[in-house]
Amino acid sequence: MNNKQIIRLTEKYVASTYTRFPIALVRGKGARVWDADGKEYLDFVGGIAVNSLGHNHPAVIRAIERQARKLIHVSNLYHIAPQSELARELCRHSFADRVFFCNSGAEANEAAIKLARRYGGERLGGKYEVLSATNSFHGRTLATLTATGQEKVRAGYDPLPPGFRQVAYNDLGAMEAAIDENTTAAILVEPIQGEGGVVLPGKDYLRGLRELCDRKNLLLIFDEVQVGMGRTGKLFAYEHYGVEPDIMTLAKALGGGLPLGAMLAREAVARSFGPGSHASTFGGNPLACSVGLAVLKSMLQGGVLKNCAKMARLLMSGLLSLKARLPVIREVRGKGLIVGVELEQEGSKIVEDCMGQGLLINCTAHKVLRFLPPLIVGKKELEQGLAILEKVLARQ
Ligand SMILES: Cc1ncc(COP(=O)(O)O)c(C=O)c1O
Repeated sequence: MNNKQIIRLTEKYVASTYTRFPIALVRGKGARVWDADGKEYLDFVGGIAVNSLGHNHPAVIRAIERQARKLIHVSNLYHIAPQSELARELCRHSFADRVFFCNSGAEANEAAIKLARRYGGERLGGKYEVLSATNSFHGRTLATLTATGQEKVRAGYDPLPPGFRQVAYNDLGAMEAAIDENTTAAILVEPIQGEGGVVLPGKDYLRGLRELCDRKNLLLIFDEVQVGMGRTGKLFAYEHYGVEPDIMTLAKALGGGLPLGAMLAREAVARSFGPGSHASTFGGNPLACSVGLAVLKSMLQGGVLKNCAKMARLLMSGLLSLKARLPVIREVRGKGLIVGVELEQEGSKIVEDCMGQGLLINCTAHKVLRFLPPLIVGKKELEQGLAILEKVLARQ
């Protein structure tokens, strides 16, 4: 099938919840993908921070093949070796003591919210409320869209579940003022806001939230679904800021392209989940967890984080030099290989033009071009991407 035939099928049979570009991607290798008509692209979207090892990484393929021959799925009624091993490795390399596995970022946050409510019920005298940030994104289930600080995500789904409020991001004073001593149980934030336009925390923001949570006896939850698993050059984004949460959520890059989410927690908090309190049929499935193990191993041993930090410097300096030459760029910001280029104008036309020239990027928060190249990206590929962007922006 060519692009046109695939598009016709999508438009006839698939629920129309997405605005899609008029191409169908059918093949990938490293930082490159090809559409059904054979056109090649540099992929700096990477499934929105999923394909961190690039497309068809040999370690991912090996793990899939090996595990598929052994055992693809069994129920959580039984112990699952790759799940237990992945949990151990995630705990070894983070603040956490226990992991609950699921299939997506929204489910990981759903698990975090449920755990916070149980903990609040048992240990905080019945508190249940979760405070999150304006401009945040936490998922599309009813609870996670209610925690999400974007009106367009919530529109049309009333009545929303109670127990959520949003407070301005990067405003410690506002967060403290918003805490209700009778109801607030937790603060949920992305350490770096992804969908909100690649917004970095102020120097003392995350540490301030930690102190606030300690002082007020609240749980601190970090949503690292987008910025975790190496994206910022460290395994977890919180490591840059010298603070640790009580609960953290992961998904996206964790499964190397297979659906895998995780909710990590300290023992004292995790204890509020017992048998029967939460579950998922596919969560922690042998195949997904085997790939998760291969991803984690490659990140930690394969020089991936080092390459990420090195390429991040290159991308940032390239973009800053573009900014110096092109007045259409208002600001360049990011950490590691999540980088936002805020424009003086809407970014959707730029994204389309870049695609025409063979570069896939996306636009978030209307004016922010977002770069999420694989962490294994090479210098030549970045330079090629920057050259395409410059050509497209110079025409504005
Ligand atoms: C920070 C953050 N949390 C949660 C989610 C939801 O993840 P999923 O689409 O896997 O449910 C996303 C997705 O973009 C995200 O960026």
